[in-house]
Amino acid sequence: MRSPHETAVELFRTSFGRTPERWVRVPGRVELLGNHTDYNAGLVLAAAIEPSLTCVVAARPDQHIRLISSAFPSEPIELHSLRTVRLDPGHWAGYVVAVCRELRAAGIPITGFDAAIDSTIPPGSGLSSSAALLVAAALTLGRLSHRTVAERLNVAQLCQRAEHRLGVHCGLLDYLTVLHAREGHAVHIDCRSLVVRNVRWPDTLALVLVDSGVRHRLTAGGYNRIRSDCEAAAKSLGVATLRELRAGSLRRENHRLTAAQRAVATHILEENQRVRSSVRAVRAADFRRLGELFTDSHRSSRDHLRNSCPELDAWIERARPLPGWLGGRLTGGGFGGMTLHLVQRRQLRAFLAALPKNANAQEGRPSSGVLEE
Ligand code: GLA
Repeated sequence: MRSPHETAVELFRTSFGRTPERWVRVPGRVELLGNHTDYNAGLVLAAAIEPSLTCVVAARPDQHIRLISSAFPSEPIELHSLRTVRLDPGHWAGYVVAVCRELRAAGIPITGFDAAIDSTIPPGSGLSSSAALLVAAALTLGRLSHRTVAERLNVAQLCQRAEHRLGVHCGLLDYLTVLHAREGHAVHIDCRSLVVRNVRWPDTLALVLVDSGVRHRLTAGGYNRIRSDCEAAAKSLGVATLRELRAGSLRRENHRLTAAQRAVATHILEENQRVRSSVRAVRAADFRRLGELFTDSHRSSRDHLRNSCPELDAWIERARPLPGWLGGRLTGGGFGGMTLHLVQRRQLRAFLAALPKNANAQEGRPSSGVLEE
């Protein structure tokens, strides 16, 4: 079998008749705990996992941009100028264009280039294929212009601005995770101080992803609805972000909030606490506790954020009685995608064998982050 890198190089050669100069591989990411906490200046525990996206590029002597994706090999995209691009909302090439515009706005010259993309991250699955594409474009195109964006935080913020331009008002979790990941480690992010730490992930714990088959599009509005409820709640409570909230003040002031605002504020307050507890549980090898935190997080997302769906809930219930299961939750934006299950590794085989035959399940091992040349 060909590696994703070879597939991308081959696609580049056959599409453009030349050899690429630079490549980058960006993995998917899985949010282990901390649902919708990132843009509330909160805490997150996440990890990079295979599958991944590979982008290979070469500069052109003119201003033209040619793009090809292995998902649509017969539909090359050719752009003559970044100013007049017309693409359908959600079109994959729009992500590359948004990054180009942000790089230019950051003073990094973008001239013509050819790029080929190969991805094994299923779009809409909750593994953040969009962040992988944005990070890959930012890194390769920055390198082509020999004016790399210096810090990982700057790369992450540039990608975030690009994604906001595309209509999704996401936080920094996805980009910071893939930029900081280390093999065999989770990534613990404090989105207020922007301090990122790697936390050794125990070999005895397996992460199993079960695809609900429901494809979400974050631009569909649910994600932005949760975000605006969070911001409105913070405003009504007189705090800059929900990270500043204390349990006592939420109790005292909750008459100021609508029911939806009270629900999201309660979720964020408790979810930050769960992330803190999860890091302690990992370090203390208290895996039962970690599993409970996963399941509590799912319940809170479902009831407070209302970003679950019957298919996600059903996979949690189906997995619950199976051998080795410690806990499970939805992961990422929600409204579909994957459920994430924490399973004792010694019972992993029995767990996978006991899943219904139609389950689309895979183990996700914390992998290294971005690789580039
Ligand atoms: C998506 C967003 C992230 C984060 C999660 C929910 O993955 O891109 O910024 O908000 O949803 O935790």
